[in-house]
Amino acid sequence: MINNEELILKAIEAAKNSYSPYSKFKVGAALLTSDNEIYLGCNIENASYSLTNCAERTAIFKAVSEGKKEFKAIAIMGSATEEFDEYCTPCGACRQVLSEFCEPNFKIILGRIKEKNKIELKEYTLKELLPESFVL
Ligand code: THU
Repeated sequence: MINNEELILKAIEAAKNSYSPYSKFKVGAALLTSDNEIYLGCNIENASYSLTNCAERTAIFKAVSEGKKEFKAIAIMGSATEEFDEYCTPCGACRQVLSEFCEPNFKIILGRIKEKNKIELKEYTLKELLPESFVL
């Protein structure tokens, strides 16, 4: 079983593919499926700005398009400096997209690196970050 720290390391790996020439802010996400597969995603920016896709949505769209629809957790890392020394929280749009596929107790794991090689973690549920979410 993969632990939170291992999933965070996967998110850092995902951020390496970030296409962010405009913001220069690299984000990576590692999405864990119920059957313990991991889908990576990075932010992909666009010259039109508004067509930018966040790392979290890249990961979930990759997974859903491969037939996965049940998820346990996502780890997110973002940084303007590649030091990943501040937590990167998911934007509102990504929270809503996660809520389409994930249960209220789905885990959202954030990380930051304050000292060399020491990862600090924060963990939320989707319900905590998106209470009273819109569903049909
Ligand atoms: N971004 C993400 O990929 N995920 C988030 O949760 C927050 C923001 C991206 C979008 C854009 O490419 C850059 O970070 C700066 O906003």
